[in-house]
Amino acid sequence: MSADSTLAPLTPPVSRLPSVGTTIFTVMSALAAEKNAVNLGQGFPDFDCDPRIVDAVTHAMRTGHNQYPPMAGVPRLRQAIADKIATLYGHRYSWENEITITAGATQGILTAILCAVHPGDEVIVLEPCYDSYLPAIELAGATAVPVTLEAPEFRVPFDRLAAAITPRTRMILINTPHNPTGTILRAADMDKLAQLLTGTDILLLSDEVYEHMVYDGQPHASVSRHPELARRSFVISSFGKTYHVTGWKVGYVAAPAALSAEFRKVHQFNVFTVNTPVQHGLADYMADPAPYLELSAFYQPSATISVPGWPARASSCCLRKARISSAWTIPRFPT
Ligand SMILES: Cc1ncc(COP(=O)(O)O)c(C=O)c1O
Repeated sequence: MSADSTLAPLTPPVSRLPSVGTTIFTVMSALAAEKNAVNLGQGFPDFDCDPRIVDAVTHAMRTGHNQYPPMAGVPRLRQAIADKIATLYGHRYSWENEITITAGATQGILTAILCAVHPGDEVIVLEPCYDSYLPAIELAGATAVPVTLEAPEFRVPFDRLAAAITPRTRMILINTPHNPTGTILRAADMDKLAQLLTGTDILLLSDEVYEHMVYDGQPHASVSRHPELARRSFVISSFGKTYHVTGWKVGYVAAPAALSAEFRKVHQFNVFTVNTPVQHGLADYMADPAPYLELSAFYQPSATISVPGWPARASSCCLRKARISSAWTIPRFPT
């Protein structure tokens, strides 16, 4: 037998994502590490998480929470999420049937699209957008229909959004607070969206991973606040962003029972379940609402002091890079 490990090449499969290469985050993070540069590319903080959350997960591991949890997630975590949403946004999702724990928001986004979008459908995306949206739509065999947010404040252009809707529109993707521009949708935007969608079967995917990073005392206009929108929506969030634990990759999807049932059909065959001890640790940590309620105040100083074109301490952390408020700071280098 030859010691040569080179294998004869096989004809590669036809790519499901022919136009996709390495993500920009991988490229920028590698470059930042190589050049010892500040990494503004990827959304993770340059400080560690609260040691109490690490203790909570360690405790869960030491007390035997190390086997598969229920497919939809650990009940006490789903209960804590349902309680949080009810308290903050006024809509009570059923923790049993309407909250599913995911391997980060990214898995939630892909699973929501795969479960509800079919080949030939159209999905409207507000651009610029988080980089997983377009490949997820492509994997579902659907067509992404871009609608560009209106500079300089990156507001939703409702006239162009309305014009982009066709009989094939299956879903609209929104993201508030928005990465990368930092804009937020306000209650009035949600009303306009509801007006557009009333009487249609169009679904909404609302990426709200930065829900606790809204500044200047403004409220987060969660889709779950709005009955006409909530009834047709997958609302997605991420513990990674809220608790500075992006590497743990745990998020959740809140959606009405019929949508959650379809979501779980796909979820059970792409991850089945998500890390048990982390879910228990998060459930314990959520008992104290202070860490998420105080997140805006924590980031506010870095969001408000700015060098020309930049929020000041933004240079230390991508999560702080955009000022998410009515007064605008668009992240860009001074010329
Ligand atoms: C808008 C947006 N959605 C989703 C994600 C992914 O979140 P997670 O790490 O929980 O998959 C990110 C991460 O940067 C993001 O910026």
